[in-house]
Amino acid sequence: MNSPNKAPIGIFDSGIGGLTVAKAVAEALPNEHIIYFGDTARVPYGIKSTETVRDYALQITDFLIQKGVKMILIACNTVSAFAKDEIIQLAKGIPVLDVISAGTETAFSHPKHQHIGVIGTLGTVNSEAYIRAIKEHNASTVVSQKACPLLVPLAEEGWINNDIAKLTLTEYLEPFKSLNIDSLILGCTHYPLFKEVIPSILANDNIEIIDSAESIANTAKMKLEAMRALNDSSGKFECYVTDRPQRFHELAERFLGRKISNVIVTHL
Ligand code: DGL
Repeated sequence: MNSPNKAPIGIFDSGIGGLTVAKAVAEALPNEHIIYFGDTARVPYGIKSTETVRDYALQITDFLIQKGVKMILIACNTVSAFAKDEIIQLAKGIPVLDVISAGTETAFSHPKHQHIGVIGTLGTVNSEAYIRAIKEHNASTVVSQKACPLLVPLAEEGWINNDIAKLTLTEYLEPFKSLNIDSLILGCTHYPLFKEVIPSILANDNIEIIDSAESIANTAKMKLEAMRALNDSSGKFECYVTDRPQRFHELAERFLGRKISNVIVTHL
């Protein structure tokens, strides 16, 4: 039987967005076997109901549990907002980390957090999960949110730096220019793909751009160390999707900046 330390880490999202998290995890934990799941047949999640997203998320969690994962990373803010407790329950003791907790902690690790801007999917923004998480850290922090539903399809299309992407971002980010925010949480794991463009659109270098990927990767590392569950020899990166594997493969290699083995289609 394989040692539990050799078990994979499961990371999932509705599509390619969670690869921003998977990339950070692979960098922080290069010896780990990572299983990435992208629900490409059903992306986007951010415009769907709580019940639907919860249902999808639990199916994926079940899939990852069947794969024998030793830790689950919810690399999707919408799922974190809608289904975190249910996932923890289903995981029965397998540690579960989520990007909303990670993003909030990162925002408070920076010196400026008087007024935090949050951009996310409709689901995440309407759930007010970030407002609750931020207010738990500091009740007097002001939070301004904006849903940016067009950014996920743009990212899935690989349109992250063209005129359409820039125009869309300009429209969405306009209100933040007069709000005097000191940091902006990228509250959707697809949004870090636009990270290079966002500062120029905000036209303010003093706004801290918060991406939860590194923070969740570091927490995963610390937790596995504490559990004495680090792998010392795999480094394997496996991808499962529910549709369009070739498209995913191309985009994934572009965003990860490395070759990956075959992307496997699976039906839940
Ligand atoms: N990347 C996901 C998130 O962080 C989901 C986006 C979507 O599918 O709408 O919310």
